[in-house]
Amino acid sequence: MYRTHHCNELRKSDAGETATLVGWVNTKRDQGGVIFIDIRDREGVTQCVFRSEESAEATELSHKLRGEDVVQITGKVEIRPELDGESTFNEAIETGEIEIVATELKILNKSEVLPFQLDKELSNEDLRMKHRYLDLRRPRMAKNLRTRHSITKAIRDTLDDQGFLEIETPVLSKSTPEGARDFLVPSRLSPGKFYALPQAPQQYKQLLMVAGVERYFQIARCFRDEDLRADRQPEFTQVDIEASFVTQEEIYETIEAMLSSVFETARGIKVPTPFPRITYQEAMDKYGSDKPERRIGCEIVDVSDHFKDSGFGVFKRAIEGGGVVRAINAKGFAGVSTGQIKRLEEVAKEAGAGGLAYIQVRGAAHDTWRSPIVKFFSEEELAAIEKDLNIEEGDLILFGCDKWATVCDVLGRLRLECSEMNNWLEGKDDELDFHWVVDFPLLDYDDEEGKWNAVHHPFTRPHADDVALLDDESKWGEIRGAAYDVVLNGNELGGGSLRIHEGDLQAKMFRVLGIDDEEQAENFGHILGAFQYGAPPHGGIALGLDRLVMLACQEDSIREVIAFPKNNKGMDLMSASPAEVDFKQLRELYVKSTVQEKKES
Ligand code: AMO
Ligand code: AMP
Repeated sequence: MYRTHHCNELRKSDAGETATLVGWVNTKRDQGGVIFIDIRDREGVTQCVFRSEESAEATELSHKLRGEDVVQITGKVEIRPELDGESTFNEAIETGEIEIVATELKILNKSEVLPFQLDKELSNEDLRMKHRYLDLRRPRMAKNLRTRHSITKAIRDTLDDQGFLEIETPVLSKSTPEGARDFLVPSRLSPGKFYALPQAPQQYKQLLMVAGVERYFQIARCFRDEDLRADRQPEFTQVDIEASFVTQEEIYETIEAMLSSVFETARGIKVPTPFPRITYQEAMDKYGSDKPERRIGCEIVDVSDHFKDSGFGVFKRAIEGGGVVRAINAKGFAGVSTGQIKRLEEVAKEAGAGGLAYIQVRGAAHDTWRSPIVKFFSEEELAAIEKDLNIEEGDLILFGCDKWATVCDVLGRLRLECSEMNNWLEGKDDELDFHWVVDFPLLDYDDEEGKWNAVHHPFTRPHADDVALLDDESKWGEIRGAAYDVVLNGNELGGGSLRIHEGDLQAKMFRVLGIDDEEQAENFGHILGAFQYGAPPHGGIALGLDRLVMLACQEDSIREVIAFPKNNKGMDLMSASPAEVDFKQLRELYVKSTVQEKKES
């Protein structure tokens, strides 16, 4: 037996006992002949003291110890003594009232000097990634791994309670249209053919419904070859769920029960259910985003009506062209600096704005308002926006004028940027704004490609009241999908929908998306075929587990909650993957690299 206790177990009541601990040398302090070693395992830290009086041999050996050596220490548990009438208890650690007076020391393995210190935050993420196995020893990372485990367990438990079966689906599979690029795997046994890694188990889970499973879930690995961000990895994990004979409401209930259990487990926060629901239209109108951060207020207000005949040409022309004029009131931000205005202008332009019109409300009187544009506004226009936007001394007003969708995006981003600049979210860490965004549009017209795309995916059912509109192309933009997203504090946690379960409706949907009969037979023959044999009505959802854990752990990036993540170029710096492979290996797979040709051209 390596140990009798772990390093966060011994307390005052154990005084007098003999204990053996194993772990890593966390710190070493040499105080003139007396050596203090803090030994650490995954549970915590215990102080061990080496004195020649108790054991000459162990004390001699302890001099040689270095940080991160792996050791086994045996000794007597003692209550930490008073020193000059002062307690030596260490309240920072849970074992702080005791220490082990060491009698035996065994070095199980030596460690080289580490490439970075474990007790300091390290900004060089590449270095952390390269030595991820060391990075994961840090308490924060170790805690994140544990939280991830407890969350996964809470999810499994709640779904099991509700009769869901955990079923695995293939990783070597066929392309699923979830909107990103596929990762492909060449097949040796079928020359010239490729598997696709699943972007999500979407079709398999629907086929399981046809198979009569009724309630399925999977903690599923998904692969998407897309540009990476703080909340996106090329491989990530979904809590994937599908059920038959369910209403949208029942799916909400299942997810609400699961998420409240997750946050109770991970953060001890009781989340009230049911979660509020807002429509996609309302989310875009008020917050300029389909994943609104509602904790910061600063709602978007439409002021188009006041500027139809305005002397300010930019606004007037936008409205004449079928667009809108909208604004936000960044309360108390009249003192915005020139640099900040520049930054806000950049943000607006990135979202497609032609410029940024603003007013710094220096005082109550309109002639104190500082702005490049108010000189064009009439007194009535000023009075109207003052009322609609609840303008008071000290406010900053930001305008957007363009097509509805562009203005939503511009002002949506500006309100987040203003929040960032003013720390509006300070002290709101424990405020969890869960909500559902519902009634998404089913279809979206892509001007560049000149075709309609599915907003969620092609298997999503049209809203019950809108099915007939599929027969009228001029109405496609108005069709709502029976689709929903669950959002937490401005993050899209998950999305799902009720599905099409009728073969003819599915085929019609594919045709709307420009997928002709031949392509349907080739790529979707299996699912269209399955729908001929009594497919039950069904629906589901998938939550991003990494995002969920990130938010529960109050981290800013999903990389902090994934044991071995990729960097933002999709590389694993530790194992140096992706890597080149032998020509021989490629030949076996009937694959030829064109990297050289590409370089030369
Ligand atoms: P969707 O594509 O919306 O739906 O994905 C569901 C959730 O998965 C998470 N997610 C990601 N997390 C990390 N890195 C990524 N690259 C990434 N991409 C997505 C998000 C997202 O909300 N099959 C459907 C679900 C369904 O209809 O049941 C699907 O995959 O949190
Ligand atoms: P201009 O007439 O282009 O000089 O613009 C006058 C003011 O309107 C400037 O402050 C611009 O930044 C602002 N502006 C121009 N286009 C837009 C737009 N699409 N949305 C909001 N403000 C704009």
